[in-house]
Amino acid sequence: MNLTVAITGASGAILGRELLRALEADDRVARVHFVPSENSLRVMAEELGLSGRNNLLEKLLGAPAKKTVQLADNDIGASIASGSHPSSGMIVLPCSMGTLAAIALGLADSLIARAADVTLKERRPLILCVRETPFNRIHLRNMTLAAEAGATIFPVIPAFYNQPADSTEMARQFVCRVLGHLGLAQPGAYVWKADE
Ligand SMILES: Cc1cc2nc3c(=O)[nH]c(=O)nc-3n(C[C@H](O)[C@H](O)[C@H](O)COP(=O)(O)O)c2cc1C
Repeated sequence: MNLTVAITGASGAILGRELLRALEADDRVARVHFVPSENSLRVMAEELGLSGRNNLLEKLLGAPAKKTVQLADNDIGASIASGSHPSSGMIVLPCSMGTLAAIALGLADSLIARAADVTLKERRPLILCVRETPFNRIHLRNMTLAAEAGATIFPVIPAFYNQPADSTEMARQFVCRVLGHLGLAQPGAYVWKADE
């Protein structure tokens, strides 16, 4: 699989970090194109203590990247901006309300919005892990628009029944659910076992 991952300026940068780490470790994934939005850098500084664009990917992965390449959000000439690029799908985690709006309205004015637009027009999986609370009616309408265009709205609502020990484990389990949805079942994914 060749996947595109965008991290935008919503809260939950740890989720994007754990997604990138899971994909780097997954042999079924050949290539990951990673696009951080400008505003995600601010949130990563607040939430992960990472500052600047230099070596961002290596800092997020905790090791040099083997298969992940970072692209700038203003690089609208990147490979993933074209439907001819053989992509298997795109995940936006976390997805801000601003990026949701751009995708829902087809603005295609940044690499993230354009790559999402292409993913939808090529009928490939697009997973939008939206994060905001509470939602206003604009957010709700945009989620409906994006879902009607083929996106999966996969809100950042973690599970508690698996009793995660900390926020990293909670993030990992959320990522397991996202990747499971794409057919990439993960080792260590919690599976509910009812008393039957
Ligand atoms: C610390 C921090 C947390 C934020 N959390 C959210 C959030 O959870 N959801 C959201 O839609 N916007 C959130 N924002 C606002 C977005 O960063 C802002 O709307 C930005 O324009 C989104 O741009 P982007 O979609 O291009 O990344 C947050 C901003 C900061 C600084």
